[in-house]
Amino acid sequence: MKSFFQVAAAGLALGLMASLAVSAAQGSETKGKYYFKKTCKPCHVEGKAGGLVTPLSKTQAQWKAYLQAGKHNKGKEALSALLSEQQLLDVQTFLVAHASDSPQPETCGG
Ligand code: HEC
Repeated sequence: MKSFFQVAAAGLALGLMASLAVSAAQGSETKGKYYFKKTCKPCHVEGKAGGLVTPLSKTQAQWKAYLQAGKHNKGKEALSALLSEQQLLDVQTFLVAHASDSPQPETCGG
């Protein structure tokens, strides 16, 4: 028969794995902001090739749909050409958190 401690330890390990999986699937807003500024912004300020794009350019639902479709530049390119899957998830987390209909709309300095 298993001791109480064995059962408790197993439960703890499972809980830890579940919380790790959740944090990986959510993405990091702080990292996303960094990647957006570093990778997207150079083309997305007024006067540059992509035109002005900020978190305010879309609603939360629109950003989710855009990142999930994964197409860029009028559907001609894949977003995955710019950043890894995890980095795009971080960017999505940042954009959604500050979208036009979010509780904290933000222009990200542009
Ligand atoms: C090398 C330059 C470049 C980079 C880097 C870049 N973009 Fe773009 N982006 C463009 C161009 C060019 C367009 C098309 C603009 C137009 O003619 O309407 C575009 C269009 C867009 C659009 C409008 C919808 C569409 O797909 O046409 C969004 C939103 C967008 N980019 C988001 C991003 C995000 C998010 C990143 C960073 C992951 C990014 N862009 C990085 C050049 C760039």
